[in-house]
Amino acid sequence: MRDTNFLIENNAKHVWHPMANPGEMRENPPHIIEYGEGVEIIDIHGHRLLDGVGGLWNVNLGYSCEPVKAAIIAQLQKLPYYNAFRGTTNSPLIELSYELCQFFKPEGMARTFLTSGGSDSVETCLRLARQYHRANGQPERTKFFSLKKGYHGTHFGGASVNGNANFRRNYEPMLGGVHHLPAPFTYRNQFETEDGAVIAKKIAAIFEEEIAFQGADTIAALIMEPVLGSGGVIVPHETFFPLMREICDRHGILLIADEVITGFGRTGSESGSRLWGIKPDMMSTAKGISNGYFPLGAAMISEKLVDAFESTKGALGTISHGYTYSGHPIGAAAALATIAEVKRLDIAGNAATLGVELLSGLQALKAKYEIVGDARGKGLMAALELVSDREKKTPADKAVVQALYDAAYEAGVMVRTSGSNVIISPCLAIGTEHVNRILSALDTGLAAATSALNTR
Ligand SMILES: Cc1ncc(COP(=O)(O)O)c(C=O)c1O
Repeated sequence: MRDTNFLIENNAKHVWHPMANPGEMRENPPHIIEYGEGVEIIDIHGHRLLDGVGGLWNVNLGYSCEPVKAAIIAQLQKLPYYNAFRGTTNSPLIELSYELCQFFKPEGMARTFLTSGGSDSVETCLRLARQYHRANGQPERTKFFSLKKGYHGTHFGGASVNGNANFRRNYEPMLGGVHHLPAPFTYRNQFETEDGAVIAKKIAAIFEEEIAFQGADTIAALIMEPVLGSGGVIVPHETFFPLMREICDRHGILLIADEVITGFGRTGSESGSRLWGIKPDMMSTAKGISNGYFPLGAAMISEKLVDAFESTKGALGTISHGYTYSGHPIGAAAALATIAEVKRLDIAGNAATLGVELLSGLQALKAKYEIVGDARGKGLMAALELVSDREKKTPADKAVVQALYDAAYEAGVMVRTSGSNVIISPCLAIGTEHVNRILSALDTGLAAATSALNTR
């Protein structure tokens, strides 16, 4: 292992980081994180931080989850890899597929397709949606609907249903036949209302109109996140998901819940679908499935789709899709241990309780600082939206947001910024003292951001 000076000198020199400008990264290299302990991380200079990002919405059980580490080590010794393509399988995969179907039984899930991460799970759901309709005798159902501000990963299918221009423009043209509905966003929307129920109805009406225009028999699926994460933690009104479910049902359109963030407890429920009381046709999951210790995802498939695949012989029913690491034995072992811990510790229950404390603290910060335009969240996913003018809702600029980030970092809390949003998604195994530390660092950060705004 090279020494600290080598690492600092070579930081961001030979790698292009995801979601970053390589030139800017060279000029302003990222923090080097060396250790993880409990719900904290420690950088290369020994600076200890409470991780308000939870890795990247995925290290839900924290960095010292011994059962998951032990499961990985044991599986590494036993069988580090073998493929799961037709002809071979492995024991953790078999056990995990059983556990996942049990875990998501209330959502109506009956089969699982294992992947290497969230983008893969989304891609799998999109592809299986089209194949389902073919196998079901409706091959013209190929189009997808999704939400503006939704995030569904970076593969071409996922990026095509993505609802944020930043992730699309440089890579266009995207997949044809993809249509976007407005986001169910109370703070910013085209409907001139902050009433979530009204917004839900308006979006439903736009969906209905577009279905009539496109022809229901051309539409394969609607994909959406139960709570929109990367787009700025947008929490829809409780009527929104059920409304969309009902429309999809009436028109034979599959509903894919992208639960990559919301699966396994983050919203305060085992899944976002369960939170809103709906049963999707498919669910894309990843992140918290393996506590972030191993790249893994799972596309979950409901009972409704099973027969079309399992009773269709030959090429039409064959899943000509999959990854070298689909059903990786180490990933499966990690996920089995993770799910056992998620259940044992009632992680969803903890996220629900602590989420209420976090949100009320964020709302108090909004009352204290003019620069906070909006404070929102569900469970342990939350955001502050910073504005330079509260009346006009003018998004705060980069330097102001950076001032908050830097001050919070100094104060010992890692947060994530995205545009003018400050996103909070800590490990789900935190306690009240951790919520208070996050709020106190944000207080410090908001004071710094306010002075950055005033000294421009
Ligand atoms: C809702 C959602 N879907 C898909 C993805 C893509 O997952 P991955 O980055 O593991 O490919 C993400 C990642 O943040 C996500 O939040």
